[in-house]
Amino acid sequence: MLAIIGGSGLTQLSTLEIVRREVVRTPYGEPSGALTFGELCGRPVVFLARHGYGHTIPPHLVNYRANIWALKQARADAVVSVASVGGIRADFAPGTLLIPDQIIDYTWGRKSTFFEGGDQAVHHVDFTHPYDESLRQRLLQAGKQAGEAVFDGGVYAATQGPRLETAAEINRFERDGADVVGMTGMPEAVLARELELPYAAVNVVVNFAAGRASSEHGIHFDSIEPILQESMVRVRNLLDHLCRV
Ligand code: HPA
Repeated sequence: MLAIIGGSGLTQLSTLEIVRREVVRTPYGEPSGALTFGELCGRPVVFLARHGYGHTIPPHLVNYRANIWALKQARADAVVSVASVGGIRADFAPGTLLIPDQIIDYTWGRKSTFFEGGDQAVHHVDFTHPYDESLRQRLLQAGKQAGEAVFDGGVYAATQGPRLETAAEINRFERDGADVVGMTGMPEAVLARELELPYAAVNVVVNFAAGRASSEHGIHFDSIEPILQESMVRVRNLLDHLCRV
């Protein structure tokens, strides 16, 4: 069963045929909301809204461990994350969809492991390639079949938030090699890796990053909303084709 974690702009999947909702608890506390079980083109899917169904949980307070644990417990065998990002690369304009292939983690103070010592043996997961390559390829194929332009690859910079970045921070991320910036990609990706859940992401560029192009003098939220709405229609179209590839 595929799991989909929806971010800003994707608190539900309109094409999901809902079978049931389930409130679950985990040893790590409560997930962002009830798990929504349903079917997407005839295949079982479990959906979770990362920021809660009322969009009330900010990126640094998302219980990433509970979310990933709950999906694993629900017998998900892969996780697709949908997340909006700011575009750092000049050609990643608002409206761009991409399937990132690398991560740089600038977050801090988040609970980012299930391996906390105590009576557990020390465990270091391999994270050379943070996203599952075959799931990435399926997302790219689904995009192709859906007729949506989807960029293959990109370095995702995970920032702490909830504030947006300064222009100098974006310059630094670019020097580090980042192409897009978002607030939720970590520790979500590594927690999925720790539980051996293949994980990949669809990133939706909703604004130029701080100091870039139309965001030179600031980021304007009123222009983000329509981009977010339009782009999520395209993401839903892509997800509808995922079971066909
Ligand atoms: N920065 C960080 N996270 C984001 C942005 C941004 O510009 N846009 C959407 N998520």
